[in-house]
Amino acid sequence: MTKKLVVTILAAALFSACNHSTQTSEEKRIDEKVDSVMRLMTIDEKIGQMVLYTSDWDVTGPSLKKGYIDEIRKGNCGNIFNAHTAAYTRKLQKIAVEESRLGIPLLFGYDVIHGHKTIFPISLGESASWDLAAIEKSARVSATEAAASGINWTFAPMCDISVEPRWGRVSEGAGEDPYLGSKIAAARVHGFQGDNLGDTLTILACVKHFAAYGAPTAGRDYNTVDMSERVFLDTYLPPYKAAIDAGAMSVMSSFNEYDGVPATGSHYLLTDILRKKLGFKGFVVTDYTSINEMVNHGVVANEKEAGIMAAKAGVDMDMQGEVYFKYMKKALEDGLIPMKVVNDAVNRILHVKFMLGLFKDPYLYCNEAREKREVYSPAHLDASYDVAKKSMVLLKNANHVLPLKKGEKIAVIGELATSTRDLLGSWKAAGDWNFMKSILDEIKTYNGDANVIYAEGCKKEGEDRGGFPAALAAARKADKIVMVIGESCEWSGEASSRTNINVPGVQTELLEKLKALNKPIVVVLMNGRPLVLTKENELADAMLEAWFPGTMGGKAITHVLFGEYNPSGKLTMTFPRALGQVPIFYYEKNTGRPIYLANPKYKSRYIDCPNDPLFPFGYGLSYTTFAYSDIKLSTTELTAEGELKASVNVTNTGNVAGEEVVQCYVRDLVGSVTRPVKELKGFEKVALKVGESKVVTFTIKPAMLAFHRADMTYGTEPGDFKLFIGGNSRDVKEVGFKLKE
Ligand code: NOJ
Repeated sequence: MTKKLVVTILAAALFSACNHSTQTSEEKRIDEKVDSVMRLMTIDEKIGQMVLYTSDWDVTGPSLKKGYIDEIRKGNCGNIFNAHTAAYTRKLQKIAVEESRLGIPLLFGYDVIHGHKTIFPISLGESASWDLAAIEKSARVSATEAAASGINWTFAPMCDISVEPRWGRVSEGAGEDPYLGSKIAAARVHGFQGDNLGDTLTILACVKHFAAYGAPTAGRDYNTVDMSERVFLDTYLPPYKAAIDAGAMSVMSSFNEYDGVPATGSHYLLTDILRKKLGFKGFVVTDYTSINEMVNHGVVANEKEAGIMAAKAGVDMDMQGEVYFKYMKKALEDGLIPMKVVNDAVNRILHVKFMLGLFKDPYLYCNEAREKREVYSPAHLDASYDVAKKSMVLLKNANHVLPLKKGEKIAVIGELATSTRDLLGSWKAAGDWNFMKSILDEIKTYNGDANVIYAEGCKKEGEDRGGFPAALAAARKADKIVMVIGESCEWSGEASSRTNINVPGVQTELLEKLKALNKPIVVVLMNGRPLVLTKENELADAMLEAWFPGTMGGKAITHVLFGEYNPSGKLTMTFPRALGQVPIFYYEKNTGRPIYLANPKYKSRYIDCPNDPLFPFGYGLSYTTFAYSDIKLSTTELTAEGELKASVNVTNTGNVAGEEVVQCYVRDLVGSVTRPVKELKGFEKVALKVGESKVVTFTIKPAMLAFHRADMTYGTEPGDFKLFIGGNSRDVKEVGFKLKE
């Protein structure tokens, strides 16, 4: 331990001994230590703790700061992101601890979104597993690897609900549903943080992007968000809340405006909602230069005003913007920001540094030996393989084309079959695509080189049809065709909005030509958002949605294709028939003119396309089939203090063992405001052997039926409800019940 740090800790211990004979709680104990450190700090050093700069190791935004090392030394920068490896973070930490005046350790942030080195499926893919334990494990493995490589803070989970497939960042979230989104948000936070932030295998989570970032107008990233407060509170807020309730100690303010005010300057969002309503105790960091961007938003005339607005709204740390660094001191001197604002912010940041154990050992997270042991460990690769196979969604399987049989001659077509970079998806963190095997390699390993004929056919983008003849020739020699199509990994994630969500380039055209050969065609899809797959669905005999499945993706896809694993994933975003249906989601309202009434004229409908999606929320097939009994209710009258149990008997009626995600929805038939036609209220993933049946029971309590009523109070309303149970949001059994006064 360094000399300076010893001084700091001693000061902390002394202070605590003088003022409190007994320690009431861990929180209070840390607060006392934080206070004692803060007493030693100058204003400049306090502002330094409110500053976060990127290193030049990774570029995740539009600007880079030169000279961040010098600023660490001067105590002007207390936090770094985009720097990793135990060796490099140790080097920077040493400068902070040994060369800055007070030796306060640095936080090291990084976008460990779906893996650090061992990469898991993109978050949207993981959500399709509906397997909370596997998702939590994925976050824990990511944390373990990151924590050994110097990282103590991840900018995850992204808790943004979205019904906007044009928006490339749907790949980073858990889909369209607030209930599932909340469960997954909590699982991810617990995975990253564990029960003890000071554990060397866990890191600090960051709930982002607060708030409502997932609803940009027209799906264009960073665009204006405009939604009613009711929709915000009932649909968009719950996953952020769940993440905070799960103990997340940092939150990132978003780029977008909400109700005319940029989120980063919104007192309503950052103080009234986040701190007062949700009781958040950690610190708020901005997104990349989002304080500066308030000038472009047009709510302030210059960066200094932006900084004042952000600080007063509740922003504790400025990511990369240098606004706090440049203007905070003057604003304090001029009385434009109360000193309390700065003290509170620094207090929260130091509090978290204490919780992470950094004051005890600043090098806790930079451990070369642990890094060597943890990164790409066999157990981590297994965990990645496990989630990857569970995330895949079988969209179609006509005539049991799948599973493929070992020894069948398979023509593998498509550029994506050989691309390991694309398997990783966006936000690959420190993931290394040279370490991995492609889909083609894995199919060859499994099925034997001699049984696999590969032709690229075409690229994933562009108009070049020069490879078509070779692809057709390869396909002619095969029993079955496996064509891997989809998007480049760069086409989803941040700044990757699309106006057209078709399969890009000439991939579908080649599929059409292959179809003319009259051989069974299996399409494997790699994409980070719902695509319009209407044409592909007509052409392909089978379609497997594989997302961007991560480091072990090639093997996972191969094993699903050959039936080593029976697919069990279910969509967590609705897949439209046509782009014009977007935004399309299962919890829509009935409207005054619903289409299902007789005589479709003058009804809420399209004249050129059905209303319903190609694949609904919750949808996914299996190599087996499941039968659902009618629903049994423990009571048809739910009292205010009571509960209702709804059960179905689910049977595996096919020829192989399989897993089914049994889903429970409700509908409130009459409310003081209109209510969705369905809302997910529970799910359970059950494994069933051939012929086996299991009773699945959901418990409904009145609190689960609460919403923001006409007068904006939160609660339930008595009356008639419907309850649905099924294997997706469309194909369900149905019963009625009454909620009593
Ligand atoms: C901008 C992105 O919006 C955010 O999600 C990310 O964490 C930061 N850049 C840092 O890379």
